[in-house]
Amino acid sequence: MNALKDKIALITGGTSGMGAATAKRFHEEGATVIVTGSSKASVEAARKAMPYVEAIASDAGDSKAAKTLVDHIKEKYGHLNILFVNAGIAKVAPLSAADEAHFDELFRVNVRGPYFLLKYAVPAMTDGGSIILTSSMGALKGMPGLSVYSATKAALRSFGLTLAAELASRRIRVNTITPGPINTPIAGKMGLSPEQIAGFGQMVANGPLGRPGEPEEIAAAALYYASDESKFTTGTELRVDGGISAV
Ligand SMILES: NC(=O)c1ccc[n+]([C@@H]2O[C@H](COP(=O)([O-])OP(=O)(O)OC[C@H]3O[C@@H](n4cnc5c(N)ncnc54)[C@H](OP(=O)(O)O)[C@@H]3O)[C@@H](O)[C@H]2O)c1
Repeated sequence: MNALKDKIALITGGTSGMGAATAKRFHEEGATVIVTGSSKASVEAARKAMPYVEAIASDAGDSKAAKTLVDHIKEKYGHLNILFVNAGIAKVAPLSAADEAHFDELFRVNVRGPYFLLKYAVPAMTDGGSIILTSSMGALKGMPGLSVYSATKAALRSFGLTLAAELASRRIRVNTITPGPINTPIAGKMGLSPEQIAGFGQMVANGPLGRPGEPEEIAAAALYYASDESKFTTGTELRVDGGISAV
């Protein structure tokens, strides 16, 4: 229960789903945990549900907010050991229906904001720290309606490789978690049609393990990457997808 003793961890998108499960797990392992969410209401709810974390409203797509967030952490905690870049949105639109607003919003929240958070947070990280990025199975497998979302997640996967190379001199490890379908509130926020819901349900049922993953199963992967258990591991990807992308 002490794998992250004395570590300071920032989890973006830690108010809900897999980020919240990871916040709980990191806390149980001894870390001081800061989480972010998009709205005052979700952050307030997270504070109530997880009184042991510091929950902050900080728009994941806003680079200025990223800088403010890092300045706050430096001032209050001095440094950061673990950065889990996890906040994200998912929206479905086939090429024929996707418009520029759809493209821009997904890239703003899932790529642009996270990139500048990485830029501002890395100088605040200790040598030997751990960065974890949340990608998606969509970066590995073509799925109708997810062209823009999947491209954003492919970008994160690519950042994971380049930054592992750039930050190796400081022994900062950078690894990517690639979730398959995980049982979180995100599905209810995607604006899916009943046909799309049925299609995803079928994909999950037909997968090797025949069920969706649970947020705690992502938290376990994040703990592995955050802790010394993975201290010889950088530039890798852990697919937590019940085998769907492979089999
Ligand atoms: N669940 C899946 O099947 C699945 C599969 C592959 C990848 N993923 C990825 O996993 C990550 C976590 O998703 P989840 O499934 O745990 O979904 P979730 O329960 O909806 O959680 C998403 C988190 O991101 C935060 N967030 C969204 N937009 C934000 C913004 N503009 N600024 C700040 N925070 C923002 C949310 O905060 P608020 O609640 O405050 O809005 C929430 O904490 C996402 O990057 C998602 O793309 C999920």
